[in-house]
Amino acid sequence: TEPLRLGIAGLGTVGAGVVRIVQTHAAMLEARGGRPVTISAVCARSRNRDRGVDLSGYDWEDDPVALARREDVDVLIELMGGEDGPAKACVEAALETGKHVVTANKAMLAHHGQAMAEQAEAAGRALKFEAAVAGGIPIVKALGEGLAANGIERLMGVMNGTCNYILTEMEATEAPYETVLEDAQRLGYAEADPTFDVGGIDAAHKLALLAAIAYGTRVDFPGVQTEGIDRISLTDIHQARDMGFRIKLLGVAKMTPLGLEQRMTPCLVPAGSSIGLLAGVTNAVVVEGDFVGQTVFQGPGAGQGPTASAVMADVLDISRGQVGTTFGVPATRLAAAPRASDAGA
Ligand code: HSE
Repeated sequence: TEPLRLGIAGLGTVGAGVVRIVQTHAAMLEARGGRPVTISAVCARSRNRDRGVDLSGYDWEDDPVALARREDVDVLIELMGGEDGPAKACVEAALETGKHVVTANKAMLAHHGQAMAEQAEAAGRALKFEAAVAGGIPIVKALGEGLAANGIERLMGVMNGTCNYILTEMEATEAPYETVLEDAQRLGYAEADPTFDVGGIDAAHKLALLAAIAYGTRVDFPGVQTEGIDRISLTDIHQARDMGFRIKLLGVAKMTPLGLEQRMTPCLVPAGSSIGLLAGVTNAVVVEGDFVGQTVFQGPGAGQGPTASAVMADVLDISRGQVGTTFGVPATRLAAAPRASDAGA
């Protein structure tokens, strides 16, 4: 059988993880997807950096758009990040030339997901983003497939590993904010620009993407009321603890009679509750459906292995011929939802 041939744009933490899975699990990926998965070419800013993986069997491209246009690439894996610039250019080039796209880029999709999904679906190609939301937790597939027969009453959770790591480490070690943020960066959790993490923007991107799937509405990132953890001090954390609470960056999306409500803000949660007990890079997403009741998805929200695991699950969908739709319904049918906040809620 014909192999499914990947082109990987971006060889940071996640890109190197994708290469590792392809190399480690070649036989398993072939068995589960029904065809071999191979890598034709890779692309990154610096060719000589040691990434701890053997890239010698793959062609090198300096230009991600050239990578996206190669005839020996069936799936572009976009792992560069950034809402515009080269990430957007190479995804558009891939879709123009009939490739499928798998991306971990929530910033890009929060801004351009609607147009990109329409472009992909018009071409009969996949645009998949499991890795963009909550790292290793398969929440995009859970919402779009496993829970698709439910009206979603509420969706909430902790969706940024860096923030949860910072908040729990500050409480546990009394270390100041700056030191703990540096640790999160060293561990490969933080975005290239960590102000997106601590400002709540990264988590707001993710919430907006999940809300689109949950409610069949167009992604409305500007509609998320967002506040980060960058002004939370050790004193705030201690005061919360003394009252039996923990501070968490918590997102909520729900459809109200006034429209869609979306917020991502630091909240006090009971220290012993399931959200209160989340430690380190762990994320959790709670989905309340009208028939299923409450379901909880928990796991590592960032880092090499977890995020690469989600990327490769999307690749396997494509191996199996499951092109699907980006947001669970055809993009042209996503409705613009009124914002509850505009109605004074
Ligand atoms: N910077 C993100 C986080 C990476 O810390 O959650 C995963 O999207």
